[in-house]
Amino acid sequence: MEQWKPDGWRAKKARQIPDYPDAAALKRAGEALASYPPLVFSGEIRRLREQLAEVAAGRAFLLQGGDCAESFAEFSAGNIRGTFRVLLQMAVVLTSAAACPVVKVGRLAGQFAKPRSSEFEHQGGVKLPCYRGDIINSIKFDAASRTPDPERMLRAYFQASATLNHLRALSSGGFASLQDVHGWNRDFVSKSPAPERHLDVADWIDDGIAFMEACGIDPAGMAEIQGVDFYTSHEALLLPYEEPLTRRDPGSGDWYGCSAHMLWLGYRTGDPDQAHAEYLRGIANPIGIKIGPETAPEKTLALINMLNPENQPGKLTLVCRYGAENVGNMLPGLVRKVARAGASVVWSCDPMHGNTIRTAAGLKTRPFDKILAEVRRFFDIHHAEGTYAGGIHLELTGLDVTECTGGAIALSEENLKSRYHTYCDPRLNADQALELAFLIAEGLVAERAGLEENRTASVK
Ligand code: PEP
Ligand code: CO
Repeated sequence: MEQWKPDGWRAKKARQIPDYPDAAALKRAGEALASYPPLVFSGEIRRLREQLAEVAAGRAFLLQGGDCAESFAEFSAGNIRGTFRVLLQMAVVLTSAAACPVVKVGRLAGQFAKPRSSEFEHQGGVKLPCYRGDIINSIKFDAASRTPDPERMLRAYFQASATLNHLRALSSGGFASLQDVHGWNRDFVSKSPAPERHLDVADWIDDGIAFMEACGIDPAGMAEIQGVDFYTSHEALLLPYEEPLTRRDPGSGDWYGCSAHMLWLGYRTGDPDQAHAEYLRGIANPIGIKIGPETAPEKTLALINMLNPENQPGKLTLVCRYGAENVGNMLPGLVRKVARAGASVVWSCDPMHGNTIRTAAGLKTRPFDKILAEVRRFFDIHHAEGTYAGGIHLELTGLDVTECTGGAIALSEENLKSRYHTYCDPRLNADQALELAFLIAEGLVAERAGLEENRTASVK
């Protein structure tokens, strides 16, 4: 394999990267980014990789979630806190059900650039370049707004850095105690239209907290909440932004992508011979690979070899986004091939991107039932194959938006218009996200109860 350089991707075919009309401005923005501080540190990235190695070994669970696309307009302390809070609430539910640590990774502080299926958008007879995310152009429909502007990378960098600063403050303690988070979850259960569905899991957590207190452990000091490890991630799509933020660790000599702890290879840019895979093969960060109905298993195996030639546990997460209709036919074959190749990977389920539909009114949405069905199928398949369903990858927000249909509140297609704010794909709102966590938790609790029964039966 050729020697790797941060700009080596430039010699390859690059999909989904805009043509910037002002080359001098692009160069200036790249130089500015190269002179700015890294957003994350190599030590943090290594710690995430170690924690993901625990996931790969079946001893921890990965919860990854946040916006489909962050925007400049919706940047606020409230939004950051809302996403952080809902992920924390979900993590407490999943930790207690899975009886293992939950590794928390946000899709934020850099999740700006979007791959698009069409180059152009048509409105009222006018054709303009499509919106590619606030880091590239503006969603406003006029020619100037849609022109890629390199200065936007600098604005995205500063927004990411302020977001990270706030996340670090929230996660270093003081935002919430375990009892607070559990209190919010109890609140959610009591207000739910079907509270009885979640009471078992809520009682289970109550028992856990009561047990800790009885043992003299103060839940307020629990590492799960106080000094929580919280990581950031985004799709490594806009390589002119990633390249100047790639830094060499003086200790090890390794290169790190310092725009986020974890980066992933998008579904539309995952060709091993092209620019995005070339960039990702040289950095020491944990890498996600999006896999869906159009991904040939041979391509996934080639990417696994290319991106993790030493088969390091925790390095690769396969983020499966097949859709509820396809996962049953397509995932088992891949799981067997990866197992046969002896590759260590984290298996994570993205039940969002394969379940997107358009309403009659033309809005993109995702039915909650399909999302849940894909997660359940994913868990069942891994159970049947003897592999570990290690994580979920969700598009969600702490806000009370109306973007995905269904859930306990039975949001209908007609309701969607009232608070539909996403810049790209429809997100679960806080209640839907929590409901999903509770439903996943029920499955995990039932599975553990089943395992327990089998164990007791075999001892007898
Ligand atoms: C995304 O995660 O927002 C996305 C575009 O996903 P995918 O590449 O899987 O379609
Ligand atoms: Co999306």
